[in-house]
Amino acid sequence: MDRIRVHGGRALAGTVPVNGAKNAALPALAAALLTDQPLRLTNVPNVRDVITMFRVLEHLGGQAAVDGSLCTVRMPRILEPEAPYALVRRMRASVLVLGPLLARTGRARVSLPGGCAIGERPINLHLEGLSRLGAEVDLVHGYITARSRRLHGADITFAARTVTGTENLMMAAALAEGRTVLRNCAMEPEIEDLATLLNAMGGRIGGAGTETIAIEGVETMHGAGHRIMPDRIEAGTFVIAGAITRGAVCVTGCNPKHLTALTQTLEGAGVPLVIQDDSIATGPWDRLIGRDIATAPYPGFATDLQAQAMALLTQAEGTSIITENIFENRFMHTGELRRMGADITLEGHAAIVRGPTPLSGAPLMATDLRASASLIIAALVAEGTSIVNRIYHIDRGYEKIEEKLGALGAAIERLRGEE
Ligand code: EPU
Repeated sequence: MDRIRVHGGRALAGTVPVNGAKNAALPALAAALLTDQPLRLTNVPNVRDVITMFRVLEHLGGQAAVDGSLCTVRMPRILEPEAPYALVRRMRASVLVLGPLLARTGRARVSLPGGCAIGERPINLHLEGLSRLGAEVDLVHGYITARSRRLHGADITFAARTVTGTENLMMAAALAEGRTVLRNCAMEPEIEDLATLLNAMGGRIGGAGTETIAIEGVETMHGAGHRIMPDRIEAGTFVIAGAITRGAVCVTGCNPKHLTALTQTLEGAGVPLVIQDDSIATGPWDRLIGRDIATAPYPGFATDLQAQAMALLTQAEGTSIITENIFENRFMHTGELRRMGADITLEGHAAIVRGPTPLSGAPLMATDLRASASLIIAALVAEGTSIVNRIYHIDRGYEKIEEKLGALGAAIERLRGEE
């Protein structure tokens, strides 16, 4: 298992480009199931979760050809409409194939994803929605089986906002008979990105990115080309890395409008930022002042940036209260940050961070993707050396993070092999 070693204490400086978004690439690849013609996706990040999605599509009978960040994927026919446990357990987002498989073939069998390191993560809202579109949904031997003749349109109100749930239903409804209205939808930019692709494939979807999405079902969809949107979470991670080291880091190729909740928090804390159309640059701060954060569905503060922001707030004066409202168990990084010297106490869904505390390098254990990023960020300012174990978590969602941080001047390297 690879590890990452960081010698802390260097201010980062320079420019870092952002990749395409993992969480937009995954549904875009699943959308390939809706047609027998090829999709040509550009700006696809080379991260482990995307590779897992290729494996899922190949298992279903698809072909994926990758050339750098260009990916051509084609599903001429579906061999067996099944996503097996071996793949779904590696990546919960495999469940994104459920809606499009059902819409294309009238059948789908997908392993029910289990809980994960950040929470229980049920998919009841995906399943209830598919039932409303006319599918018969059962759970047998740990697998969801869904069947239908042609799905039909329906008026569906989500009981809670769900990102992949909205995406799954949007894809299923795209090929359903008649009109579907989805209400109380998640409004994440990745959903709009998927709708742009689906419309380029012949879909008729309006309102994506707002809480009400209307979909006129079509008979068939066709091939299309699409550029995956920039990864707002990767961008935010580098902005926070620049900020914590009091560095001058310019994150380019991002959409700052997608990061308003983060940039407002950082500016409120005292981090000088220069925000342009497609870049965010950090400058060294004089004083960093604690801020409260409460994660919320977009456009609120992203849960996927909570762990990284917590690392930064250990360096801020005063008390910061971080409330995690999306996932019930997304505080696994606090124990590791405490081992580095942070003063953090947990009270239910809130973490109380008192600062500033000097951090010292330590051996650390990554527990999930964003927790890994948080530990690396903390290690950048810790005195001495940190080794972050179980770094495979970070490879799920960040492409070459050690090379990108290294190019900004961090003393960071990947140690290959044994722990
Ligand atoms: N929920 C339900 N029932 C459902 C679906 C969701 O109760 O059927 C609950 C969840 O338990 C959670 C909340 O609703 O409390 C929101 O979950 P959501 O469904 O929106 O999460 P997701 O679609 O499984 C996506 C991202 C996550 C990101 C969340 C929240 C992808 C592939 N994954 O997950 O990304 O944290 O939205 O923004 O888009 C990551 O990249 O590190 C990551 C975990």
